[in-house]
Amino acid sequence: MVNALGGFTVDDSAVADFRSVFGRAPETVWAAPGRVNVIGEHTDYNDGFSLPIALPLRTIAAVGRRDDNVLRVASAQRPGEIVTLPDLVPGKTESWASYAAGIVWALREAGRDAGGLDVFVDSELPEGAGLSSSAALECAVGGAVAELVGWNIEPDLARAELVRLAQRAENEDVRAPTGIMDQTASLRCTDGHALLLDARTAAVTQVPFDLRADGLALLVVDSKTPHEHVHSEYAARRRTCEEAAATLGVPSLRDVSEEDLDTPAVRALDELSYRRVRHVVTENARVLRTVDLLEDGRVREIGPMLTASHASLRDDYEVSVPRIDATVDAALDAGAYGARITGGGFGGCVIALADADTIEQLQAAIQRTYAARDYGQPGFFTVAPSAGAHRL
Ligand code: GLA
Repeated sequence: MVNALGGFTVDDSAVADFRSVFGRAPETVWAAPGRVNVIGEHTDYNDGFSLPIALPLRTIAAVGRRDDNVLRVASAQRPGEIVTLPDLVPGKTESWASYAAGIVWALREAGRDAGGLDVFVDSELPEGAGLSSSAALECAVGGAVAELVGWNIEPDLARAELVRLAQRAENEDVRAPTGIMDQTASLRCTDGHALLLDARTAAVTQVPFDLRADGLALLVVDSKTPHEHVHSEYAARRRTCEEAAATLGVPSLRDVSEEDLDTPAVRALDELSYRRVRHVVTENARVLRTVDLLEDGRVREIGPMLTASHASLRDDYEVSVPRIDATVDAALDAGAYGARITGGGFGGCVIALADADTIEQLQAAIQRTYAARDYGQPGFFTVAPSAGAHRL
């Protein structure tokens, strides 16, 4: 079966694939979704707010224990390749398998040692599109291994703990200094809701987000922009924020308010740092306004928040690229209520909120823009807020 992105759905095939690669049945199979962030970008590592939804597109992990300490990882996306790791030391795996190895290692470090494992993964998520395929992989494997070591992650607090381990895997094994939004979305989102995350405390609030009932749709446009320097630019943004917080004498930029932006202390920051700070501060405020509007049932009115978020990410935070800006402009010209880049930036996807019956018109307008600028074919799909990681 082919999914909306032109990839294959994963259904039960992970079980059959596990059997054909490893010659036995898996002990458990878990699914974990990717995410799009509705609003609240580059705020999580500043102790701020974000509002992701889980996608219906998932990564599946079929897992079985071994009687030695060896980890073997295979993937439907890389037929014939089995990554074999005799010992789990962070940073030793360069490949895609590091996300699986990283979470197994982080669980072991936390005293939840499953011993050796065979892991087969299959994914509906395109890689490198900014839809958190890596977090989905960590969380699917993490959920499966948690079950095998007898750790019940149904309680939300246990899920919050697994989020930290998946983040540790990403930070220390894969060496990407990311925040907790992606793993939180993958593990703690629920059907029909956006998830308000307060990254300072890791507290979450489920915010009803029923687009269909309002005749709305959220269009995701995969710009298929080649990613460049993503890790180094991300790390640089994070460093600037941390240095600005230190200069201002606050624990993090979460502690700077919109009013503070006009005080002499904040104005004294260098021009670049000031713009980075302004993005984070105004973005936190936009997240909270968006949540208020959603809670009031004024869903269309979040559109201008999304568009303002994009302008801030483009001009102040400088994580957009021309193709993404052109996608946002085309969506707005074609009648979207709001549109913005979603995820870490430098390419990836745009989301656009529009009346469901105008989505085809939006797609046609974006396609015309891409054709006129030789951007190739974008990918399109609409999303409903879906469930977090679960056992299949
Ligand atoms: C990436 C990171 C997240 C978050 C976003 C930007 O997706 O993994 O932690 O920082 O970028 O909002």
